[in-house]
Amino acid sequence: MKKIIVAIDGFSSCGKSTMAKQLARDVGYIYVDTGAMYRAVSLYCTRNGWMDAYNMDVESIEKNIGAVHLEFKINKQGKAEIFLNGENVEREIRSLEVSNGASRVSTLRAVRRELVRQQQMMGAERGIVMDGRDIGTVVFPDAELKIFLTASPEIRAQRRMDELKAKGEKVLYKEVLVNVKERDDRDQNRKESPLKKAADAVVIDNSTLTIEEQQRVLRNLFDQRVGSAG
Ligand code: DC
Repeated sequence: MKKIIVAIDGFSSCGKSTMAKQLARDVGYIYVDTGAMYRAVSLYCTRNGWMDAYNMDVESIEKNIGAVHLEFKINKQGKAEIFLNGENVEREIRSLEVSNGASRVSTLRAVRRELVRQQQMMGAERGIVMDGRDIGTVVFPDAELKIFLTASPEIRAQRRMDELKAKGEKVLYKEVLVNVKERDDRDQNRKESPLKKAADAVVIDNSTLTIEEQQRVLRNLFDQRVGSAG
């Protein structure tokens, strides 16, 4: 059976990774979380002193981005984890601080160019489900199935809050909602590859869908596209 590329784009915290991971597992494809890649770059820049809550040393980041090598490895539980130059940083990249930094470094052209290059290599053999903001528009404009996932900011803030709480982080709903809206704004309005729906993407609003309903919709679309890919 022909392998295809599934590109899942959308706002932060609308469940793209849950959706993408589950489909990849069900159909035996590789799953790539490109947000984790921007987060790992954010961590790398903070550790090197090129970024804090207020400033970003664009020149140093752009000069050194070629030294960032990212890969995903599957752990004993079958979950993909991200490695930054050989170090497992999966846990560290999930904090609010790293997430804010990721939203900022992802506006830099040199960072995007390098990560897009690495993402295209990961999907060169097809058989991949990739989620992010620019997968259907920039990374794989030729993807056979493109999804644009969306949900209301309030619902996404609540979901993000539940995730952070489960990890033991103490956060306020109000703070998370502000963060979600700020990131939406930056994702949609940045100059480099802003988040936008590809003309041929299917829109799924999952504000009122259960995970099972959402997966059924996705699986039907996948089966149709694999069928028509021959
Ligand atoms: O999906 P996420 O919240 O883990 O993404 C972290 C940040 O990275 C988010 O602010 C947007 C950015 N990002 C991007 O610009 N392009 C992608 N393909 C994926 C994420």
